[in-house]
Amino acid sequence: MTNTFGAEAAALVAQMTITEKLDLVCGNGLWRTKGVPRLELPSLLMVDGSNGLRVVPDQISTDTQNTDLGAFLNAVETTDDPEKRDDNVLLGKSIPATCFPALSVLANSWDITLAHEIGTALAIECRAAGAQILLGPGINLRRSPLAGRGFEYFSEDPILTGEMAAGVIRGLQDNGVGASLKHFACNNSETERISMDSVVEPRALHEVYLLGFERAIAKSSPWTVMTSYNRLNGVQTAQNSWLLRDVLRGRWSYAGMIMSDWHGIQDLPAAISAGNDLDMPFNAARRRRLKDAVSVGNVPTRVLDEACIHIAALTLRIADAQRRLTVSRPNFVVHHDLARKAASRACVLLKNQNDILPLTPKSCTGLLVIGTGAVAPEIQGAGSAAVRPIRCDIPLECLKTIAPTDVPIHWEAGWSANGDDDALLHNAALAAARSAETVIVFASPPPCISGENADRPNLTLCPSHDRLIAELTTFHSRVIVVLTHPDAVVLPWADNVQAILSAGYAGSGYGKAVADILFGHTNPSGKTSVTWPMRPEDCPAFLGYPGEQGKHFYREGIFVGYRFFDIRQIKPLFPFGHGLSYTSFTYDALQLTSTQEGASVRFTVSNTGTRAGREICQLYLRRSPAAANRALPHHPLRALKGFTSVSLEAGESRVVDIALNRRDLAYFDTVRDDWTVPTGTVSVDIGASSRDIRLSASLHIVGDAAPTRWLDLHTPPGQVLEISGVKKDLVAWLADVTGQSIVETETQLAPCTRSFLGIYDTLCWSFGLELDETRLTHILDDANRRSRAKKPAITAKHIHNDY
Ligand code: BGC
Repeated sequence: MTNTFGAEAAALVAQMTITEKLDLVCGNGLWRTKGVPRLELPSLLMVDGSNGLRVVPDQISTDTQNTDLGAFLNAVETTDDPEKRDDNVLLGKSIPATCFPALSVLANSWDITLAHEIGTALAIECRAAGAQILLGPGINLRRSPLAGRGFEYFSEDPILTGEMAAGVIRGLQDNGVGASLKHFACNNSETERISMDSVVEPRALHEVYLLGFERAIAKSSPWTVMTSYNRLNGVQTAQNSWLLRDVLRGRWSYAGMIMSDWHGIQDLPAAISAGNDLDMPFNAARRRRLKDAVSVGNVPTRVLDEACIHIAALTLRIADAQRRLTVSRPNFVVHHDLARKAASRACVLLKNQNDILPLTPKSCTGLLVIGTGAVAPEIQGAGSAAVRPIRCDIPLECLKTIAPTDVPIHWEAGWSANGDDDALLHNAALAAARSAETVIVFASPPPCISGENADRPNLTLCPSHDRLIAELTTFHSRVIVVLTHPDAVVLPWADNVQAILSAGYAGSGYGKAVADILFGHTNPSGKTSVTWPMRPEDCPAFLGYPGEQGKHFYREGIFVGYRFFDIRQIKPLFPFGHGLSYTSFTYDALQLTSTQEGASVRFTVSNTGTRAGREICQLYLRRSPAAANRALPHHPLRALKGFTSVSLEAGESRVVDIALNRRDLAYFDTVRDDWTVPTGTVSVDIGASSRDIRLSASLHIVGDAAPTRWLDLHTPPGQVLEISGVKKDLVAWLADVTGQSIVETETQLAPCTRSFLGIYDTLCWSFGLELDETRLTHILDDANRRSRAKKPAITAKHIHNDY
């Protein structure tokens, strides 16, 4: 990514005073940059959040440097205090806006075009509110379903995450509004959110946690990136120069602007030095410390200038984009329709025994709806991503509207308004169920116990909901459960109900989307973007979550999400990528072609059912695990590398293409500290889910390099001689030193491979000489250079001294 406004921005910064520069990097009030009025550099307004706007007019006036910490905390707080749950307090009197599905739900659509449409709608609403930047999308991985902000993030998989995020970002930026890709990086829990240290091994970091960011940046060039609150391997991310300079700016060539999360910077001089350009929101003490550091030269002017150039370039870029790209005023009716469409694409039909769904007039005479969620739906999570919805579809009303006229619908609350047990309501619901043909239960976990700043205590639904469903299933054989939930939940009664529809936090169109699916007006096509565990103990992060004594060890390494369930052969409740349809699809005619860039994959999908539907096809790459007695890089059994969706009429077939590039074939080689494509044969698996593979074929890959290791005097001879080219150099040197022939030297060297001691000691013993250490070191160093092996640092750059 090149920054086309860099030169103009640098010219402006050259004219700025130190005070103007300090003002520019320190933000203005809660939501703005300060700009430099003297140089006609305007202030920028930023608003939350990922799936809709949260704009509080009182908080965005330009003439204040005061940031009301109380107002900010109210806005991002999660609370189970009913007093504080009042919308006005939580949402800080935000203006009404369209509430699109949470990103975790949008991800279930696997629909990049839809993500772009939502980005476009968000941009239109931003521009009407006078905002230039939307503080989203958030794209951390959903590593544990307990994470309080999991609902704000797309998936447990980096490819799905990166692709969907890129769709939203392009939608925003194609319409003149900057995205802020957040929270960079490894913000996977809300526990001790500004001090917790995410301790992540390098391979998992690059291959899993950073990959989604890398992919989104490569595909959509977000104009800003927001650092996270947590530490990463010992260093606050906003102050982590390895993360910001080496990775983001260096490896990924990111040229946009980097800002902090709100009050996420603890040491502003360190953050500016590490490459974090903008401190948000304004804080007088932090600004004073920066001023002092600049005045004594602890932060060189060059470094401050660099930050100012990024902010100025962003400001110029946005001014230019908003001049060129005019957008219409928001049409909230159209946006609400889009919210409905998104919700209906993203709800996942997890179970549908004996095709109980869709409901037909015949199958549902005497329909009973149970649950407060049918009349007061939970459409979104708590915290800074919360939106004051301009409209909201109520499921019960929508069901009544679209149900055939001869289908009477009766409703029972089942439990109290806050989800607590209520014997009277519980018994009334059970009694009503005895005479109902079909029962639909709207169930969920307790409201408002998780969200921003609060991880979930467990994965269960409200005990009152679980109990009622379990009792219903003892006498009723037509029970359908509709779930609203922040992330995966455990469902002890799953085997005994007939259908389960997951809606997550589906936004303001949820009610209509669900009614349409239940009655078959929409054929469901969503597929889950995370694995649903049977029990919390099955989750990969279970052992270390949420950390201890300030450190959160990511113990499962690269085996995040389905990779863990697969390699441990754990049966999930519902696997990653699973979702049912009212029609059926077959896959055939898989063809693979190696290309210079990677490979192209082609297959045919057919709709073999009786109605139109959309199928999400997933491409996984599978390598065999490394041989047990060799310490070679270990690969997850199966990893998603691409996907596509096809909408097909009944009986229709379509040829589908998915391209794999070299990076898709690579793993992060920690010895080379770089991506490497290994030579070998992989299986290309095409699936309807991660556990429903329909087609497979082998692909031989000619890699960039063989696995290597760093060689030194202490490396055992067997491992040294495995590395290509070393043997020849060693034999030549030893023959020279000993005066033996090449053949004699080779013969004497051969048994050395059995030694587990270092090569130097082994050779001295075997050849009966005190060999020259320096000469041997040169030979090994040459091999290291050729294989691009990097010397392992005792304190690797990205691992803080503590580890
Ligand atoms: C959140 C961000 C949000 C910011 C502004 C922070 O607490 O982590 O996601 O954009 O507040 O509300």
